[in-house]
Amino acid sequence: MPRSKIAGIGMYVPEKVFTNNDLLKYMDTSDEWIQERTGIKERRYAHRTEETTTTMGVAAAKIAIERAGITAQDVDFIVFATLCPDYYFPGCGVLVQRELKMKEIGALDVRNQCSGFLYALSVADQFIRSGTYKNILVIGSEKHSFGLDFSTRGRNVSVIFGDGAGAVVLQPTEKNDQGILSTHLHSDGESAEILAMYNPGTHANHWGAKNYASFDDAEISQMFMSHKMIDSAQNFPFMDGPSVFKKAIVKFPEVIMEALHKNGYELSDLNMLIPHQANLRISQFVQQKLKLRDDQVYNNIQKYGNTTAASVPIALCEAWQEGKIKEGNLVCLAAFGSGFTWASALLKW
Ligand code: UT7
Repeated sequence: MPRSKIAGIGMYVPEKVFTNNDLLKYMDTSDEWIQERTGIKERRYAHRTEETTTTMGVAAAKIAIERAGITAQDVDFIVFATLCPDYYFPGCGVLVQRELKMKEIGALDVRNQCSGFLYALSVADQFIRSGTYKNILVIGSEKHSFGLDFSTRGRNVSVIFGDGAGAVVLQPTEKNDQGILSTHLHSDGESAEILAMYNPGTHANHWGAKNYASFDDAEISQMFMSHKMIDSAQNFPFMDGPSVFKKAIVKFPEVIMEALHKNGYELSDLNMLIPHQANLRISQFVQQKLKLRDDQVYNNIQKYGNTTAASVPIALCEAWQEGKIKEGNLVCLAAFGSGFTWASALLKW
């Protein structure tokens, strides 16, 4: 059975840099608070009307496709991971298919938030291993800036997130010492509501989230998106940050060790860990817990903030572009986020 390898990788971040100080115009926060709690100095925001989650994904995809030495017409499947799609439906995958004038190939959207890229990569990996497809385009892209609460009310969420996209092309390889060795996917829906965007949705508060506004039966019978939801800011993401933090620092090390042990490796064998860029303090905690050297972990959240599904491919692409990942290196990708979901992938570059 062939393995899959990353044959090409690309990234795109919007031109517009938004510093911590720029946020002061909108909310009561400070550069000091943001840097101390998250490590973030600045993030990129997409152009309001000229850029979308899909167009950024397409920009990253074009680079990945070129670096893989193929054309868009050679791609035989698309997997697109995002939590802020252009439309509620259809997904971004079909928009990529249209934009890149691809053949009438399958296009799958993955909705696993911060773990989205790794879930997407895992799906693509299975299709390559089974021999079904030969050139799969996997994209992670987010335009968070369009859907954040920029008032002081939303500051615990809005200072963290940024926009951007990353993409890879997966192809089969027969080489024993190359490619994706294994992927590991997990979830625990017990905490689904502590990092979530409730609306628009069909839940009608069926799940009884504590922080959800109360609606009477008449309101519930006709609501999908109501004035009351908007007035109570329930069209924005909600996050109980400290609870997410506590779980993340347990699950990151667990899923990294799972990937290494599954393949008979130890931490000392690892050349590079690319953690999802959720918060620099989380990455540092994980590094310390696993006793990894600085050169074994790559972080770029300082420049881009948390770009959820895009963060792993952006960090992987940048680390590779900077020469920090070389042929034959053992690389672990790991993520944790809303759901909760968490995941890892171990690969030989
Ligand atoms: O990738 C998706 C997964 N998400 C994550 O992994 C996020 C995990 N969690 C975190 O990164 C952190 O919990 C945050 C960065 C979100 C928050 O940091 P924290 O140290 O956990 O702060 P906190 O939520 O406990 O809030 C501490 C204080 C509060 O004030 P009081 O109640 O102590 O007076 C907040 O109101 O900080 C206040 N605060 C802020 N102050 C200035 C919250 N956000 C801000 C802000 N600027 N942006």
